[in-house]
Amino acid sequence: MLSEKLFEEASKLFPGGVNSPVRYYDPFPRFIKEGKGSRIFDVDNGRYIDYCLGFGPMILGHGDHDVVKAVQEQADKGFSFGAPGESEVRLAKIIREAVPSVEMMRFTNSGTEATMHAIRLARHFTGRNLIVKIEGGFHGSHDYALDSIPYNRARNTDQNITIEVPFNGVEALSDTFHRYGKKIAALILEPVMGNIGVVKPDPEFLRVSRKLTSESGSLLIFDEVITAFRFGYKGYQDMVGIKPDLTTMGKIIGGGLPIGLFGGREEIMKNVAPRGKLYQQGTFSGNPLAMISGIATLTRLKKMDYKKPTDYAERLSKEIAKIMDDEGINVTVNQAGTMFTIFFNHEPVVNYATAAGSDSGLFFRFFLEMLKNGIFVPKSQFEACFVSFAHGKEEYTDTLEAVRKSVSAIADTK
Ligand SMILES: Cc1ncc(COP(=O)(O)O)c(C=O)c1O
Repeated sequence: MLSEKLFEEASKLFPGGVNSPVRYYDPFPRFIKEGKGSRIFDVDNGRYIDYCLGFGPMILGHGDHDVVKAVQEQADKGFSFGAPGESEVRLAKIIREAVPSVEMMRFTNSGTEATMHAIRLARHFTGRNLIVKIEGGFHGSHDYALDSIPYNRARNTDQNITIEVPFNGVEALSDTFHRYGKKIAALILEPVMGNIGVVKPDPEFLRVSRKLTSESGSLLIFDEVITAFRFGYKGYQDMVGIKPDLTTMGKIIGGGLPIGLFGGREEIMKNVAPRGKLYQQGTFSGNPLAMISGIATLTRLKKMDYKKPTDYAERLSKEIAKIMDDEGINVTVNQAGTMFTIFFNHEPVVNYATAAGSDSGLFFRFFLEMLKNGIFVPKSQFEACFVSFAHGKEEYTDTLEAVRKSVSAIADTK
């Protein structure tokens, strides 16, 4: 297979043969050459219904006509100027109108950069060092968010450390703010967890998050890198009526081209250089191709009815759970809007500890069977599947057929 050969070469060029660890799986990942609508195609002529969707950005499906045309037109005009352009202003206005808490913003090239700078800004603005995050929450690959200690093992400190609390853990969060409140620069969270698999928030947990941060003078950062424009033409914050101080975005707002954003209250954002003292920059930030792709994507999304892909995800999740159940396989399928995760777990999954109780080995066997049967889902038990506007009746039926075949194959080896 060409994928296997390419992977052999790639392994000598990239650590583990990939440019992002989530792309690796045994014995070798399929190399993808093309995407059209709901489907992707590999270099070995395999074709798959895609539930990975670039890990989230491709909500319109691959190769949306309007987006492709807009990007092609921009490509003719130039790629990168290192000077401001009108497209930055246009995209920023679209985003601010849809997510009003983002009064002022800065574009970056990735979600990782966005959360890293949001945390730097929170520390700068509050003059405090501690960061609180959610256990298992992922905010990109920088040490501020990767290195953390459980709240009940933290010592009284005000160093640059990150403390973690369980998702939906109102008591643990309250306890942490009681002990460290005046030292906490920010609490950062994904309002719907997407990186331990999909887990919905208890609305009370989000309310308490807002209350405790306000009372202690800390900032509340919503990491909406996945959730912005995923549940509707707005942020998840607008759906639950909670106004964070800072928000990070990425993925959908660039329509598949590299992007990130951190933004929020002007009082905070004005501290970023050159207006303020917090230095932050990026050669490619506000890149015209990414801006134009984002504008075209959000313009399309504004006219879309999210009910269709949401219903698809809901019905599919229920049906998958039923098929598994009939085969005697324990699963919990969590679905939120157009996202879902099949946990090989008979317990409800409400946070990292319960997600970690899933049978990852069985999930991986399921993943490989699904791949054989023409369905591409993220390879890890702790990722989200995404549904796009390009997924329809045919995809629905074919997916369920593949699930039936895959489930009976793994049930035989269980
Ligand atoms: C919630 C969340 N924040 C931040 C990031 C990092 O974004 P990027 O991969 O664009 O650096 C991700 C990536 O999946 C994410 O899911």
